[in-house]
Amino acid sequence: MLVTGGNRGIGLALAEAFAANGDRVAVTHRGSGAPDGLFGVQCDVTSAEDVDAAFSAVEAELGPVQVLISNAGITDDGLLLRMSEDSFQRVLDANLTGAYRVAKRATQGMLKARSGRMIFISSVVALFGAPGQANYAASKAGLIGLARSIARELGSRTITANVIAPGFIDTDMTAEMSDARRSEVLANVPLKRYGTADEVAGAAMYLASDAAAYVTGVVLPVDGGVAMGL
Ligand SMILES: NC(=O)c1ccc[n+]([C@@H]2O[C@H](COP(=O)([O-])OP(=O)(O)OC[C@H]3O[C@@H](n4cnc5c(N)ncnc54)[C@H](OP(=O)(O)O)[C@@H]3O)[C@@H](O)[C@H]2O)c1
Repeated sequence: MLVTGGNRGIGLALAEAFAANGDRVAVTHRGSGAPDGLFGVQCDVTSAEDVDAAFSAVEAELGPVQVLISNAGITDDGLLLRMSEDSFQRVLDANLTGAYRVAKRATQGMLKARSGRMIFISSVVALFGAPGQANYAASKAGLIGLARSIARELGSRTITANVIAPGFIDTDMTAEMSDARRSEVLANVPLKRYGTADEVAGAAMYLASDAAAYVTGVVLPVDGGVAMGL
């Protein structure tokens, strides 16, 4: 299996959970190297060449990629009036077009194997939007259309495509938020706490397991209830 952006944060927790389960796990990184026990490949998902080379290296070392977790992502927040086209494009390119690049490359091996699992890490922001995150929310909402199209296109080949929509999870990404913004967020979370990366990993383990063989095209929130009903 392969996790993009698996060198830290949620991606690392995902990779470690699968490795602890006995799976052969590869992670992409952008130069930081791979954490101990994981096979690392350098890859920037904004480059189709990098993505192709990374898959070839993983296939040579571990065999075909049966489970793909498209997790790499960035934010570049700003109010719409001041959001440059460059900022919008950069976030879309990493979060959405990057996911398209890895999914497309993964499809080659999955079609041959006539089976595969794709899991896209979106966000609750895809469902309810967020001020200052037009670029990020658009990219994360795009993942839902991407996954559901793949689910319909490749379902007959036993390939599933699902989305996880994490809420507010304690990682470097949310550490950048101010204390005031953190309290404001928690006020709307029924479970009254941030989630952990391990809790996102639990959802991914389920979607990759035999128990989820008949589950495709879903958006599975892991969000303490913040987006329920949407
Ligand atoms: N934290 C949350 O509350 C939260 C909530 C909802 C959704 N998410 C989503 O969950 C995913 C992981 O988030 P996180 O909180 O773990 O973020 P993080 O700690 O900032 O880690 C982001 C990961 O993505 C990688 N990455 C970024 N741009 C890349 C690119 N162009 N090519 C390859 N790798 C790239 C980073 O690599 P480097 O180490 O090289 O920078 C890093 O491994 C993201 O898609 C994020 O949008 C997070």
